[in-house]
Amino acid sequence: MTTEQAAPLTGKAPERPPEGEPAIELVDVCKSFGKTEVLKGISATVGAGETVCLIGASGSGKSTLLRCVNLLSPPTSGTMRLHGKTITDPKVDLNAVRSRTGMVFQHFNLFPHKTALDNIAVALRRVRKMSREEARQRGLAELEKVGLRHLASSRPGQLSGGQQQRVAIARSLAMEPDIMLFDEATSALDPELVKGVLDVMKDLASSSGMTMVAVTHEMGFAREVADRVLFMDRGVVAEEGPAREVLTSPRTPRLQSFLSQVL
Ligand SMILES: Nc1ncnc2c1ncn2[C@@H]1O[C@H](COP(=O)(O)OP(=O)(O)OP(=O)(O)O)[C@@H](O)[C@H]1O
Ligand SMILES: [Mg+2]
Repeated sequence: MTTEQAAPLTGKAPERPPEGEPAIELVDVCKSFGKTEVLKGISATVGAGETVCLIGASGSGKSTLLRCVNLLSPPTSGTMRLHGKTITDPKVDLNAVRSRTGMVFQHFNLFPHKTALDNIAVALRRVRKMSREEARQRGLAELEKVGLRHLASSRPGQLSGGQQQRVAIARSLAMEPDIMLFDEATSALDPELVKGVLDVMKDLASSSGMTMVAVTHEMGFAREVADRVLFMDRGVVAEEGPAREVLTSPRTPRLQSFLSQVL
């Protein structure tokens, strides 16, 4: 019988920092488009491995906030740190930040003429410089995780909307992001397809230790999966707390009114 050995000190660094450390820190983040102030001083922290749902009325700034976090559309002012690194620094490498931050949108933007597998593999070859075979194996493994390995050779037009969205999630995950951002990933789907995508997101939240921020109108999902909920109202975080508490005992009249409309 062999004795248990201590991990070698020279071993590979862990892929993600330990849970509990902040993965995302936002300090007084503001975003304006011309004279329109959309985000009016957002301060929030998301712990590593935490799942946070962002809820709020249309136009409250949820998508704008996610687009700030992955620097698709950087904030006008304020400070943002990802795993302790200040990404609002003008010298930051935008591509490096974006590649560590996976984002899944309502519309999945797969290449229509490529198979599900190639949609994933092409990014791995271009961005990760993987060989064709390495990218293929990795792509198949990611498709397996979202239950679609058997459809690897199908093109997007041959897949349902829910399956396409699962391919888009697999494509993001293949890049091994530290953080996944979801912007209403299920709201363009027919009701019967929503569950399959939410199940993939649930698995990700519970089994992988991934840090997730999901904008959602699915309050059942938020209650079940989110560690915390942030309620945005007209460009500010108007209320936040543990999911069950925020969703079942809202303190502010604005959140009470919002929940009475969506529940
Ligand atoms: N590029 C832009 N230029 C000008 N105004 C913008 C731009 N992007 C967003 N806005 C404005 O910012 C506000 C917030 O938009 P945002 O898309 O963040 O809202 P949201 O909370 O995601 O809404 P929804 O639930 O409908 O997706 C809206 O009033 C919108 O018109
Ligand atoms: Mg939006």
